Amino acid sequence: MIKVEHLVKRFGLRKAVDDISFEVEKGTVLGFLGPNGAGKTTTIRMMAGYLPATSGRIWVNGIDVNEDPVRAQRQIGYMPENTPLYDEMTAGGFLEFVAEIRGFRGAERSRRVDEVLDSCMLGSVRHQPIETLSKGYRRRTCLAQTLIHDPPVLLLDEPTEGLDPNQKQVVRDMIERMAKDKIIMLSTHVLEEVEAVCSRAMIISEGRLKADGAPAELKKRSASYNVLTVEVLAPAEEAAKVFGAIPDVERVEPVTEAGGKQVLRLIPKDRQSLAVGVIEAAARHKWMVVGMRSDSGRLDEVFRQITTTDDVIRRSA
Ligand SMILES: Nc1ncnc2c1ncn2[C@@H]1O[C@H](COP(=O)(O)OP(=O)(O)OP(=O)(O)O)[C@@H](O)[C@H]1O
Ligand SMILES: [Mg+2]
Repeated sequence: MIKVEHLVKRFGLRKAVDDISFEVEKGTVLGFLGPNGAGKTTTIRMMAGYLPATSGRIWVNGIDVNEDPVRAQRQIGYMPENTPLYDEMTAGGFLEFVAEIRGFRGAERSRRVDEVLDSCMLGSVRHQPIETLSKGYRRRTCLAQTLIHDPPVLLLDEPTEGLDPNQKQVVRDMIERMAKDKIIMLSTHVLEEVEAVCSRAMIISEGRLKADGAPAELKKRSASYNVLTVEVLAPAEEAAKVFGAIPDVERVEPVTEAGGKQVLRLIPKDRQSLAVGVIEAAARHKWMVVGMRSDSGRLDEVFRQITTTDDVIRRSA
């Protein structure tokens, strides 16, 4: 388990991280979101024991990261934002070196290196000097390095940045495979990625925690949540009038009309669900509903709203 309490980091007068507290349980893939300069990297570096906190405390599986960084780091695989590697080493040689530092020797060391080369699909560049690797391969070598000691906690700072679509998918699949037995915290600017792999998302802005919850829950805060698109066989103006009179409908926007089929967008009051009311109204008028789609909301809308206003979304228990 991870526990962070009142974490603060000051650089001079500037608070890069401003009183952040949260807990994460095993089995969580936590997406860490926020605009450029929000404090994601700073938070992750403190959690990984590479940057001392100004104040506040961090525990990783019960170990205080400030008091005992070396012991805490055995629990952690940390993938930094930039890819600091030893350029003159080969990919395989570098991983052997990391395994050695982590205390593995002989057959055990080789087994672990083979395993991460395989899981990160680096077999083909094993003997290639790191300085000659493309960006995506460098990034994956960096990821392989975090996995060598099979730590229960992974802190990944933009792990899929710079990867091609196929490699992004490979990394997402790896994360999903490992998720069950670990805590994985990853920062990203790719919101689809959060929806695809994260069971929980936190949004920070100007160093403060602004939203925390399951992606589907956060999306419920977006303006488009529960907007209903209806296709109905009905007379044009009448349909708009009847649906517009449903109590939870704020307004009706006609989309298209052809051959007696109306496509309408119904905007709800207060993000209420409209489906039942619409079906009932259509039945009363003997109109056939041929299609209906309720919007599940959009994370990018929530992101913009949260990071440009004083709104806060707390995690429900
Ligand atoms: N070593 C440092 N000295 C001074 N200021 C720093 C230092 N490191 C980070 N900062 C500042 O702290 C703030 C947060 O930076 P941080 O790198 O944590 O943001 P981020 O959320 O990771 O942004 P990005 O999405 O661009 O990676 C920024 O204003 C940054 O300039
Ligand atoms: Mg960053």
